[in-house]
Parts: sequence; structure tokens; C-alpha cells
Amino acid sequence: MPVEAVARAVGTPVYIYSAGAVLARLRELEGAFAGRDPLVCYALKANPNRAVCGLLARAGAGAEVVSGGELRRALAAGFSPRKIVFSGVGKTEEEIRFGLRSRLLAQNVESEEELNRTIAVARRLRLRAPISIRLNPGVEAGGHRHLATGHGAAKFGVAPADALRLCLRARREPSLELKGLHCHIGSQILDPRPFVAALGVVERLLGRLRAAGVRLSLVDVGGGLGVRYEDESRGPAAQTLGPARARLQPAALAKALAPFLSRWPDLGLVLEPGRFLTAEAGLLATRILYRKRIGTSRFLIVDAAMNDLLRPALYSAYHPVVPARLRDVDEVVCDVVGPVCETGDVLARRRRLPWLPAGELLAVLKTGAYGFSMASQYNSRPRPAEVLVEGGRWRVVRERESYRDLVRHER
Ligand SMILES: Cc1ncc(COP(=O)(O)O)c(C=O)c1O
Repeated sequence: MPVEAVARAVGTPVYIYSAGAVLARLRELEGAFAGRDPLVCYALKANPNRAVCGLLARAGAGAEVVSGGELRRALAAGFSPRKIVFSGVGKTEEEIRFGLRSRLLAQNVESEEELNRTIAVARRLRLRAPISIRLNPGVEAGGHRHLATGHGAAKFGVAPADALRLCLRARREPSLELKGLHCHIGSQILDPRPFVAALGVVERLLGRLRAAGVRLSLVDVGGGLGVRYEDESRGPAAQTLGPARARLQPAALAKALAPFLSRWPDLGLVLEPGRFLTAEAGLLATRILYRKRIGTSRFLIVDAAMNDLLRPALYSAYHPVVPARLRDVDEVVCDVVGPVCETGDVLARRRRLPWLPAGELLAVLKTGAYGFSMASQYNSRPRPAEVLVEGGRWRVVRERESYRDLVRHER
């Protein structure tokens, strides 16, 4: 599918996703854990586009949501409520009520006060709230300090001693149905060992609960499976193609978790990947507006910016950038920058790229996760269009915003 054809029809910047790539990742993950029949709950925050969610829902996946808005999207996209888990440290009363009324698989409770509020809402609604307790296992993991959620200084979940107490309390409370333990330790994790360490803490807790006569029905190990955005040691060609072994391999993760899972054969297994399913399935196509030199620095100024793709500015994230068509043009080392009035509006720093003129198209790769979902209208820039490629065809799955959209809610 020539990116140029889509860009010419839809304009730029535009996110383009591959349905086949998303579904291949889902199958790979399910296959690795096949003996255990895992429920893969797609973390909507990575890419909540309805068409992307619909693909995964039709393929039998569940969803992980962290707000009332994501829950509405998940239900509208066709995910079965019985396959939806609802996390979040700051659920409002309205969100708790909406979650309980929707009859989800589990609401992941992240504090004692949230537990109290959940009990109160469940009593009022006269129903039993299915809950898991989210454990903060005290494990450092993740590709950036903003992505680590499982350590003691992070706001997520409850400490192990508190988790035990809350589970015992939940067990006695008639308006609650204690389903299990939830433990998401971070994002962009490329090594199975932090997952094993976190499950060590989960296991100690499970042992204590069993000793107290409490048996749980599910363990939710969260998401966080990393993709390799950058493999500089292998040179630019390898960066472009993304070597298969660079990701956290589902088979390696399954093997590392196997001892734990074999000791707890009755626990249902939930996984919550976001990035793993969609990151490599997407690119951001952007046109060069200008070339410019200041002293020894060279810049390719493009029509996408940090408002369209925030990850480089927010996390210093690396995304491979390639010309959409191969060109016999001299390469230079340059920065790829957007039009936003921030020095930090750099999509790619110090890259060797062909010194292409205005009008040429670049593709910023591996932007299918936390790309559009983090986009804003900063600098009053309408958000880009989204396109899904499926079965050799493409279609717009979200229109480019208009200038009217920028002021739509203003009075
Ligand atoms: C509770 C929870 N589950 C799953 C995810 C998905 O993480 P990832 O996209 O790294 O798989 C997140 C990400 O923040 C999360 O907070």
C-alpha cells in the first residue's frame, strides 16, 4: 500500500494503521499462552480508535479501560462487558456506578477509599461489585521513569500488606465479589524478569490468602510488553524493518511465567497489552515543508508536530523516520522538527536522512500506540486524520479535524 497514495488523498499529517499487523500481534500473544487460554484485554489508551478497537473486539479480545470515556468507547466498539476490566486511581463515583451497571469482568480497586466508595455505590445499586485489588508490588520496570508504575513511589495500586487486608475485607463484604489480584508494573518493558519479580509478590499474597481460606478466580498481570523502537547497533536499515527479536517475545514471557502459572492452575489469566498490539502497526506520514540550516545544524521542517506525536517531546522517545519513497539523494545528519513554537518540538534528533526538498513525504514509524491517543490541539492545530489499511484497501477511520472543531465548544 503506497503511503504516498493515502497521503495524496487524505492530506498530511495522517496516521496509517495496518489491521493485519494488529491482529498478528494478538494471535502471537494468545498463541504463546495457549495452554492457559488467556484473556487479552487491550489497553484502549494506546489507541482508542473505534475501528482499531472493533478489529480486536471481533477477534475475541477484551478491553482494559481507565476512564468512563474509555469504557463508553469499549462498549461502543463491541467489546463484551464480561471481557472488560476497569483500572484507574481516581475513578469518580459516576464512573464507578457506570462500571458496575455495565456488569464488567472486574473493577480494579486501587485504594481503601475507592473500596469504600465502591461498596457504597454497590449497596445503593443493590448489586454485587466484581472487583480485583490492584497491587503495587514495589518493582521498578519500564522504559522511562514516567512509565514505571509498580514501585513504591508511584501512585498506583496498594502495598502488599494493605492488599491482604483489603482482600480479606472484600471477602466479608456481601456487596463485593472478590475476583482476583491485578498488577500492572509499567510500560515498555523488554525483559521478562520484572514480571516474574512482580508475580513473586503476587504469589506470596495468594499463599496468605489461601491460608486464610480465600480462593481467587483471576490474576491480571497487566500490560507493559515492550517494543524495540530503536536498534541503532544494527544500522538504519534494521531500524526501519524492526528486527523480529527486538520486541519482548511473548514466548519468552510465557516461559518465564510458566512456573507461577503451573503452581496456580485454577487462576484465570488476564493480560492487558496496549503498545504491544498497536505500536508497530502504525506510522505517521508527514510532508516536508522546508529545509533550513542554522550554523552547523540542519533541520527538516515537516507538517507534523509534537501536538500530533507527543512521545519524543514527553519521553525523549525514539521513532524511526524514513522517506516514503527511496530516493537517490545525499544523506545528511539533521533534526526532523514540526511547526509548533517549542524548542522541544523535535520528532527525530540527529538522524541521517536524505536531504529531501519540500513536498517529499516522510514516515515516522511505530507510532500506532500512544500516537494519536496523546495528540492535542496545541498551537490551535487540528488533530490529524487516521486511516486503517485492511485486506489491501484503506479507509479513513477518523476525519482530520477542521478549524471549526477547534472552537466548537467555546462560548
Ligand atoms: C493498568 C494498565 N494496564 C495496561 C496498560 C498498557 O500498557 P502498555 O501499553 O505498555 O501495554 C497500562 C498503561 O499505562 C495501564 O496503566
